[in-house]
Amino acid sequence: MPPYISVTNLTKIFRTASGSQLVLNGVNLSINRGEIYGIIGLSGAGKSTLIRCLNRLETPDSGEIFIDGRDMFGLSEEELRLARMDMGMIFQSFNLLSSRTAFGNVAFPLEVRGLKKKEITERVSELLELVGLSDKADSYPRQLSGGQMQRVGIARALANNPKILLSDEATSSLDPQTTMSILELIFKLQQRLDLTVVLITHEMRVITEICDRVAVLDEGTVVEEGPVIDVFTNPQNPHTRNFVEMVLKENSRFLERGYRPRGKLTRLRYLGESVSEPLFSSMVKLFGVDAVILQAQVDHIKDQPFASMLVDLVGEEDNIMKSIAYLVSRGVKVEEEK
Ligand SMILES: Nc1ncnc2c1ncn2[C@@H]1O[C@H](COP(=O)(O)OP(=O)(O)O)[C@@H](O)[C@H]1O
Ligand SMILES: [Mg+2]
Repeated sequence: MPPYISVTNLTKIFRTASGSQLVLNGVNLSINRGEIYGIIGLSGAGKSTLIRCLNRLETPDSGEIFIDGRDMFGLSEEELRLARMDMGMIFQSFNLLSSRTAFGNVAFPLEVRGLKKKEITERVSELLELVGLSDKADSYPRQLSGGQMQRVGIARALANNPKILLSDEATSSLDPQTTMSILELIFKLQQRLDLTVVLITHEMRVITEICDRVAVLDEGTVVEEGPVIDVFTNPQNPHTRNFVEMVLKENSRFLERGYRPRGKLTRLRYLGESVSEPLFSSMVKLFGVDAVILQAQVDHIKDQPFASMLVDLVGEEDNIMKSIAYLVSRGVKVEEEK
């Protein structure tokens, strides 16, 4: 099956009075239907520009974007309008209308689409309930917390039943606890509504918490890409290695705050060849067991990579046991963490 979203050789140059800047330098990406795909990179790497190319808020200089088999640059105005309706977007600054209540903000895209008042009321109530804000329908943005404002933003993004949710640093201005609750919400909605999520962030924790795969963007180029756990346990690129060091720091703080495991907390250690094998993506494919990385460390012992990780194995009990047997058969040392 071809990927749901494919980006090929995308380039974007910004031309300003002070000169021109190559912001996307041949970006290639494939995103599957139903996955949560993370794009991580430092500030200025080109992440926002890339995500804005996906919904055509930005026009690239060259390259291709196909979404669900459709050439995004071969669309008529009307087709583009419809294609955009299939994509909801959320932002760091929430972008709510301050003169409208939570209800009014969520209603906005439905009004634009020309729905009848009764339909709008029904749909908005449904959406506010979905994001856990039924009791805040009449509150104005200034009366809401950051987390609540982002919930309104999410409800608004989902108003027209999009197939894709684009998230540009949606949790970057939230405190860690609120970040977790918004990530949990995105995860729940992705499962329930069968969304494909493209999530941009500069925060490692966001990626390790809910993403299936990740691309590392650096100076407009994808320097590394793959299943989150494989990229983070065996980073090939110096930029990714820097990020991995950041995750260690972030996640240990995150553990101190009292992480509640969803599955079996397990310590994995492995040496040598097995590290470069995509063990974890196989585990998901073979047994439907996912590994949430809580700590990861890769060292070298006489040139051999050595990884130590604390993971939360999430899946059915039986399948977790099978996954552990699989890891052991691949030379991984597995210990249950108390
Ligand atoms: N509309 C624009 N005009 C000129 N330069 C821009 C514009 N938007 C972004 N840039 C520049 O492109 C680079 C990448 O920006 P951006 O995509 O926002 O990066 P990120 O989201 O990774 O921080 C930055 O150097 C930024 O200043
Ligand atoms: Mg940005």
